[in-house]
Amino acid sequence: MISKSFDPSTFVSNAINEIKGIVGGELAVAACSGGVDSTVATYIAKMALGDKLKTIYINDGFRREGEIENTLNLLRNLGFNPILLDREELFYKNLAGIRDSERKRRIFRETFYKVISNFMSDNDIKFLIQGTIAADIVETKSGIKTQHNVLEQIGVDYGFKVVEPLRNLYKPQVREIARFLGLPKEVSEKMPFPGPGLLIRVVGEVNPKRINIVRKANKIVEEELMDIPAFQKFAVLLPGRATGIRDGMRKYGYMIAIRVVASEDAITAEPVNIPFEKLRAIADRVTSEIKDVVRVLFELTPKPPSTIEFE
Ligand code: XMP
Repeated sequence: MISKSFDPSTFVSNAINEIKGIVGGELAVAACSGGVDSTVATYIAKMALGDKLKTIYINDGFRREGEIENTLNLLRNLGFNPILLDREELFYKNLAGIRDSERKRRIFRETFYKVISNFMSDNDIKFLIQGTIAADIVETKSGIKTQHNVLEQIGVDYGFKVVEPLRNLYKPQVREIARFLGLPKEVSEKMPFPGPGLLIRVVGEVNPKRINIVRKANKIVEEELMDIPAFQKFAVLLPGRATGIRDGMRKYGYMIAIRVVASEDAITAEPVNIPFEKLRAIADRVTSEIKDVVRVLFELTPKPPSTIEFE
């Protein structure tokens, strides 16, 4: 944890010096998802490196509805000139038939960095700027999960130098820096969304059909709970099927879980109390707008013993 005397202005000038010191006059790339961590890291790197910094955004097929366009617009408005790498097919191909959560995470990470390292070698770039924060490292090192962006700390080497200016900060400090830098609220107050996206919101095997179901359900959850303050709110597609009724006939359909948590730093979390009518409204919309879903459940456990994500 960092001390109470944390000063965003000192932090930013130190981070700029650190990045300049490592990268020198060479080219660097930032993979920016539009989330608060990677956007702050990219913004500071841009201040340090100017046009020597390239920004990429990867379409892995696991983004939320409208997320690709929204993120590209956001990054353009921040002056990043993002390059979109459309790699949806590659991710689905590599993940086909994989059910185990940790294997999914590892394959996602390998595919993600393969895409980045190909881009880097094609463009003769040796430095990667990442928005890794302290919680990512702590939980990956302690074996809670394979966070997609934690590499050097666990001895993974993809052959390029990773620069992580935010590695000692927790989420509240990153938000403070975003505000200090004058980034829009859309960034500084943004709800966290994991790097592997909807991949870890489908329990078990992923394919475009299953991702589409959780994508639609997630949109409904976000819309219906727009005015509920929470650290994260989202939908999850559960494994297996359960009995329901469609057109007067028995139908084995999918199950969606709703997860809404309060948290400061994602290390612990509490479920948020949602008015029953709101939960009912979500259940009605999900089952009427997504015909393959016949059940909607609300998740009640804190972290620990559960984690925030289901995978
Ligand atoms: P868990 O599920 O471990 O999540 O309680 C803690 C926080 O981390 C996010 N999360 C990730 N973020 N890459 C990310 O960028 C990942 O691989 C990843 N896994 C979990 C999760 O959404 C929550 O905010």
